[in-house]
Amino acid sequence: MTLPRRELAPAKLNLTLHVTGQRADGYHLLDSLVVFLQVADVVQIDAGPLSLALTGPFAAGLAGDADNLCLKAARLAGREAAITLEKNLPVASGIGGGSADAAAVLRALGCRPEHPETLGADVPVCLEGRPARMQGVGEMLTPVPSLPTLHLVLVNPLQSLSTPAVFSAMTRRDNPAMPDALPEFPDTDAVISFLDTCRNDLQAPAISLLPVIADCLSALDASGARLSRMSGSGATCFGIFADRDSAERAKSRIGAENPDWWVVASGLASAPATH
Ligand code: C5P
Repeated sequence: MTLPRRELAPAKLNLTLHVTGQRADGYHLLDSLVVFLQVADVVQIDAGPLSLALTGPFAAGLAGDADNLCLKAARLAGREAAITLEKNLPVASGIGGGSADAAAVLRALGCRPEHPETLGADVPVCLEGRPARMQGVGEMLTPVPSLPTLHLVLVNPLQSLSTPAVFSAMTRRDNPAMPDALPEFPDTDAVISFLDTCRNDLQAPAISLLPVIADCLSALDASGARLSRMSGSGATCFGIFADRDSAERAKSRIGAENPDWWVVASGLASAPATH
C-alpha cells in the first residue's frame, strides 16, 4: 500500500427509512433505500503509530478520543495508522458521519472485517459505498440496480439530535416495509413516484424533539423541491430538485434566509473503486 492514502467518506442519505420492528436487544429492524452523495469527509492514512488528527469545518464538534470510530475501525483492522480526518459534514446529523468515516478508514487500509456492523449499524452500507436497500439492523444489503442523476439540496439546522432519543420517541415500531421488489428507476419522476409511497418513520419523532426540522422541510418545499424528507435520525433534511440549476438556486435562497443552517447542493457519488 502506498502512503499517504486518501479515501473519501461520502455522506449517506436515507431516501426512505421504514422502521419495521424491534429486536429483543432493543435494536430496530429497518428497511431503507440508501444512496451516497458527492459531499464527503476525507480520511488520510500515513505511516506511524495509531493516532487521529481532526481538520475541516466541523472538526470542533468531534472528540478525537479513543471512542472515535476512525480509531475503532483501525483497531478492528488490527493496523497502526496515523489518521487525519477532514470533517466536512456536520456531526451526528443523520448522514452517516462516524460510520462513513470508519468505513473509509477500513477501505483505506484495504480491510474488510467480518462484522463491520459492530462499529455502527451504518458501517456495512458505507463500506460498500453504493446505492443499496438496507434491511435487518443494517447488515442485510441488496444492491439497487441503477439510479438516475439526482439533484439534491441538504439542509441541517446545526442542532444535533441523539439517535437513541429519536428511536425512543417513536409511538409505533411495527410499520410496513417497502414493497418486496423495488421498481426500476429510469428517471427522477420514477424515483419521486416511488418515494411518495414511502416514508422516514423517524421523521415525526425527530420533529417532536427538534421542531426546527419541520422548518428545514418547509424551506425546501418553498424553494421548489419536488420531494423533501429527513435522512436517518436527523436532523439533516434533503430535497430532490428537477435539475442542477434549480437545486443551486434553492441552496442559495435557503442559505441566505437561514445563515445559521448548513445548506449544500450535491449529486450522487460514484461508487468507490473495489479493493
Ligand atoms: O449503530 P449506531 O451507533 O449508529 O446506533 C446508535 C443508536 O441508535 C443505537 O445505540 C440504538 O440505540 C439506535 N439504533 C437502533 N436500531 C438500529 C440502529 C441504531 O435502535 N437499527
